[in-house]
Amino acid sequence: MKDLTPSKASLDPIEVASRDEIEALQLERLKWSLAHAYTNVPFYKSSFDAAGVHPDDLTSLADLTKFPFTVKTDLRANYPFGMFAVPREQVARIHASSGTTGQPTVVGYTQNDLDVWGQVVARSLRAAGLKRGDLLHNAYGYGLFTGGLGIHLGADALGLSTVPISGGMTPRQVRLIEDFKPTGITVTPSYALSILDEFANQGLDPRDCSLDVGIFGAEPWTNAMRREIEDAFDMHAVDIYGLSEIMGPGVANECVETKDGLHIWEDHFYPEIINPETGALVADGEQGELVFTSLTKEAFPIIRYRTRDLTRLLAGTARSMRRMEKITGRSDDMIILRGVNVFPTQIEEVLMATDGLAPHFQLELSTPDRMDQMRVLTEASDPSLGAEGRAAAGAALAMGIKQSIGISVKVDVAGAGGVARSEGKAVRILDKRAKL
Ligand code: DLL
Repeated sequence: MKDLTPSKASLDPIEVASRDEIEALQLERLKWSLAHAYTNVPFYKSSFDAAGVHPDDLTSLADLTKFPFTVKTDLRANYPFGMFAVPREQVARIHASSGTTGQPTVVGYTQNDLDVWGQVVARSLRAAGLKRGDLLHNAYGYGLFTGGLGIHLGADALGLSTVPISGGMTPRQVRLIEDFKPTGITVTPSYALSILDEFANQGLDPRDCSLDVGIFGAEPWTNAMRREIEDAFDMHAVDIYGLSEIMGPGVANECVETKDGLHIWEDHFYPEIINPETGALVADGEQGELVFTSLTKEAFPIIRYRTRDLTRLLAGTARSMRRMEKITGRSDDMIILRGVNVFPTQIEEVLMATDGLAPHFQLELSTPDRMDQMRVLTEASDPSLGAEGRAAAGAALAMGIKQSIGISVKVDVAGAGGVARSEGKAVRILDKRAKL
């Protein structure tokens, strides 16, 4: 793999500033953001008033804990534009969540917000090793989802040549990678695996393709998956994080030279980790739920938003800004199986360590005889493997899961293509449990 480390001179000065400088900037911006939200969004006025706090009560970063949290249902209750802090005419862009689990969540951006978004995504793509003039194959979905258009803004800001291919039509993805010879690809890790399969279908070796780096996010993926993808494509695999409510992709990104967790662009997004049960702040280094406050957003300021993503904060390494560890999972995706807490990423890790299995999987939950049961549906890596070989690989996975996680599961190893593929975010959990 090529050394893609960006030069120090190409970084934004704040990326390597001292902690004191970063915190001074955060405090100044935090005061502005609280006052902006309180003055212009009726929801924040009433939530701050109900908690008996006023933006003037914040004189240090630590004072932020006095302010109330914002949760997804608050955004839904203010559907569609109730959380906007500027007149609708000043909103240059609207994005929304798919709304598959309820009312869609709508977010808005002023032109200035879009410029900031472009800067943080450009910073992310640079951290991943891309530079002006590189060709980028952007396979995140374009549309209301923030992935495609968010990456595109950053690619423009960095000066890349962007191929806005979006998700889907997998044979064409491979064709254009072969013909246009991009150095970078932006895509969900699960869709990257579908593209990988398609290389094999077309009789091509992905290690021979032009890609030097893939920038993967929008869903959890493990370091074991990183090794699999890096090895399969002979390229770097770097993690990008974000969520629509805070901005979209580009809230945090790994540096290609260290790959040790994601540096949070703390000059625009202020992170906290809380105990998800009590809401109390926990110290850096401790696991909990990630909470963000926007520091510069005009159209859609967001104060202490509970992301439900589980991680921990660590000191900066390649940059001065703090890192978040790779996300373990979302609290909503935690499966409680006969009393044991399990995340799909834990299953992924064991699966990747088991010989003979492809990196595709889904977890089906059901309650036969009123007992919770998990069935892991996966595939053999060798499509010609017979029934006996598949059964043996499945037994090895069940054993690995029992040993490392402590739960008994059923494993079914299907033939090639037996597990549904994603063109965006993978659906990992099929919940067929009886609803009480
Ligand atoms: O997924 C934004 C994005 C697009 C990020 C492209 C990275 C690349 P939403 O659709 O609002 O936004 O979903 C946000 O996805 O709260 C996490 O649960 C999950 N997520 C995003 N990035 C990662 C990541 C986009 N790198 C939700 N690792 C977040 C784990 C991630 N989970």
